[in-house]
Amino acid sequence: MAGRKPLIKRIKWPGWVVLLLIAGLIGTGMVKWLTPVSGKSSSAPYLYFQEETEEADTYTLSISTASMEEDEQNEEIQAWIEQEKESFFNKVEKYVGELGGGRRAHLTIEVDAHQGRGDTYSFIFRSHKRVEEKQSESKVRVFTLNKENQSVKLTSLLDNPEAVRGIQEGVEQQLKKESPDGEALADIINRPDEWNWSIRGKNLTAYFNPEDLGIDREDFVQVNIPLERILSFKDSGQKVVALTFDDGPNRNVTPEVLDILKHHNAKATFFMMGEQVDKSPDLAKRVADEGHEIGNHTDQHKDLTKMGMPAVKNEMQASRNKIIEVTGQQPSVFRPPYGAVNETVEEAARHFGSSVVLWSVDSHDWKSRDPEAVNKVIEKEVVPGSIVLLHDVHKETAEALPTLLDYLEKEGYQFVTVSELLSIQG
Ligand code: NI
Repeated sequence: MAGRKPLIKRIKWPGWVVLLLIAGLIGTGMVKWLTPVSGKSSSAPYLYFQEETEEADTYTLSISTASMEEDEQNEEIQAWIEQEKESFFNKVEKYVGELGGGRRAHLTIEVDAHQGRGDTYSFIFRSHKRVEEKQSESKVRVFTLNKENQSVKLTSLLDNPEAVRGIQEGVEQQLKKESPDGEALADIINRPDEWNWSIRGKNLTAYFNPEDLGIDREDFVQVNIPLERILSFKDSGQKVVALTFDDGPNRNVTPEVLDILKHHNAKATFFMMGEQVDKSPDLAKRVADEGHEIGNHTDQHKDLTKMGMPAVKNEMQASRNKIIEVTGQQPSVFRPPYGAVNETVEEAARHFGSSVVLWSVDSHDWKSRDPEAVNKVIEKEVVPGSIVLLHDVHKETAEALPTLLDYLEKEGYQFVTVSELLSIQG
C-alpha cells in the first residue's frame, strides 16, 4: 500500500541464523575472543563472545560479553562493564579488611544475546556483585544495537508516537503492580529511551532495576508488552479513525449517537452487551441496519480474567447468540470488559473466530462525564489508525459527538469500523 508506514523501521540485514558454540572456559586472568562456528551467510555479522575471569586473594571476577565486531566492542557496552568493575573494586576496597584467607568478593556478569525486530541485536547483561554474606547486588542492563554496532533508541525504532504512548501505558500498568514509588515511576515512564528493552517476535520486553523503581527487591522486574495487542500500532498510512461505543445499546443515549453519526455519514463500531441487547432489541437492530459494526462485549460485563474457560465461553456465547438473533450480524470483533485479557480470553476469542480489540485512545468519558474534556483528550491523542474508546451509555458522550465529528472531519479523517481498520492494516 502506498505510503504505508510500517510498525518497525527495517534496516537491511540478511536473514540468518546464529548457531554459536562457546568453546570452553578461558584460564585465570586471560582474555580471549571465541570464534563462532556457524552463520548462514558469509557476509552476515557474527556474534563474538568474550570471557574474562580473574581470581585474587580478595575477589573473583567472571565477565561474559558479546559483540558484533571481532575486535571492537560497542563503546557503550565497554563503558558499562568498566563502570561495573570500578564499582565492584570500590566495594572490595571498602571491605578489604574482612576479605582474604578464603573470604572473597565476587563479580559475575553474564550476557544473553538475541536477534530482535527491525534487524537489531539485543544484549541482555546481568551483573551480580556479592561480598561474602554481607552484601549482594544484582543489576540488569540491555543494549540493543543495529548492524552498524550502534545503539538503537526505542522511540526511533517504533517511529510512531502512538505506539510509544501505548507501550508507555502498558508498561506503567504492569509496573504499578510492583507498588513502586509514584514519582520514580512517572520519571521512568516518561523516558522510554532510557529503558532497558529488547523486542523478540511480537513482544517488547522491558527490564527495570528495583532501585530505579524505589522498591526493595533482589531481582529486576521484567515487563512484557505484546506489540500486536494495540492494533493501531500498525499505522496504515491512511487517515482513518475507528470510533467505538461500549456497553450499549442504551435507550437514553444510543438513539442520539446514531442520529449524529447518520448526520455525518460516519460508521462506527458498537461493542454490545447481551444483557443490553435483551433490553433494547429494536435499538440493536437499528445500529446494524444503519451500517455500523456490532462487536461482542460479553453478556454481563464481568472481568473474564477471573473466570475459567467454560464461564468465559458462556459469557461470550450468550451475547453472541443474542446479537446474531436480533441483528442478523455475526460479531467478528470482541472487546473484553475492562480491556482485561489473558491467555484464556484470547483462546476463547479464537474459538469464536473473533479478534480481540482493545483501543488506543481512551476518551475517559465514563470518568470525566464532560463533553469538553472528552473532546480535549481525543483531539490531543488521535492519530491515523486510532481506535477511540467511548461509551453510548452516558449523555455527555452523545453531547461531545457533534464537536468531535466536526473536528475529525476537518482534520481529514475517514470514519471506519474496526473490521475495516483491521483489513486496511492487513
Ligand atoms: Ni465495557
